[in-house]
Amino acid sequence: MSLAIESRCIHLENDDRAARYGAVSYPIYQTATFAHPALGQSTGFDYSRVQNPTRQQLEKTVAALEQGTDAVAFSTGMAAILAVMELFAPGDHLVTESDLYGGTPRLFRTICEPKGITFTAVNFSAGIEHAAKAVRPETKALFIETPTNPMMNVTDIRAAAELAHAHGALLIVDNTFLSPYLQNPLVLGADIVIHSGTKYLAGHNDTLAGFAVVKDAEISHRLREIAKTIGANLAPFDSWLVLRGIQTLAVRMDRAEQNAMELALWLQKQPQVTRVIYPGLPDHPGHELMKRQARGFGAMLTFEVRRKEDVPALLKAVRLIRFAESLGGTESLLTYPITQTHADVPPEVLAANGLTDRILRFSVGLENVQDLKDDLTQAFAATEG
Ligand SMILES: Cc1ncc(COP(=O)(O)O)c(C=O)c1O
Repeated sequence: MSLAIESRCIHLENDDRAARYGAVSYPIYQTATFAHPALGQSTGFDYSRVQNPTRQQLEKTVAALEQGTDAVAFSTGMAAILAVMELFAPGDHLVTESDLYGGTPRLFRTICEPKGITFTAVNFSAGIEHAAKAVRPETKALFIETPTNPMMNVTDIRAAAELAHAHGALLIVDNTFLSPYLQNPLVLGADIVIHSGTKYLAGHNDTLAGFAVVKDAEISHRLREIAKTIGANLAPFDSWLVLRGIQTLAVRMDRAEQNAMELALWLQKQPQVTRVIYPGLPDHPGHELMKRQARGFGAMLTFEVRRKEDVPALLKAVRLIRFAESLGGTESLLTYPITQTHADVPPEVLAANGLTDRILRFSVGLENVQDLKDDLTQAFAATEG
């Protein structure tokens, strides 16, 4: 029976629960190792670093939601990105989006560059022709986020995939901001999708997780060898938390997006706000493109306040909304990228991306939207004096 995505989030892939005492919640196989019936025989599981049934169940689910053939689960999103970067060798070159989550270029700079991998960062949303100029004979991959974190720039995934493939390179898309519920880059031509599963997939700010999702058997094989060797795999209990989170992914995304749209329109009218960047707004340059390549606009929005001095006052004054890093949970969070998520990004890159000291990133949660407006109203009042 072919199921819609809302049902697939709940009725997980290749489910063996019914066979095991009829348990409705997938069991947590909290074991490091598995006993063998005899020499040369295996239950299918040998050691939990290599595979664990709870993690396997989660991986099948995420692969199915992204319409890939395989998903490898890691302890964090950064561990997933590190594993993907192990696919490359000294001398390889990657063209990357310039406005990525700050931890990603930090990894490129501090771990990959010293090993001889080179990077050129470009603004993909300025047009694929622009990105094409950065491609070299040794370019092995393009690495993008769309929408980007935190400036919400939108890239044409199909065009990026065509550019990559025309040069024999891979397209890697970090799909954290939208989740597989709203966007499936593999279907649009990408080769590897990355998730910080910490965010919308887990959805409750209570665990860390990461995924690399692929459709090609050879890449899957190489990634599994890397994962097994590095050992940064997702633990059974954390796998279960993400499985549980995914069950409500569809309703959470719908509600959060509804709140985000209403708040984006409301924020535009606040005198303390000079700019609201949300792709759901019709005047956002990526609005039409997102309508074509995604099933929604997500629940991340960025806004700019009038004065730099307003930022500390606002972050201190919010009560319901918390001032914290991360995103994609039930709770609304405000993040100040230049001292948090993007603290290690060089000032000239921040300036080129327009990421100023007046920019705040807003992960809109599932609270009542009027309560969120009331909280912001009292917090904006505090900035006035
Ligand atoms: C878009 C994006 N990718 C990757 C990561 C890294 O994920 P994690 O914090 O799970 O390591 C983050 C974290 O904020 C992120 O926002």
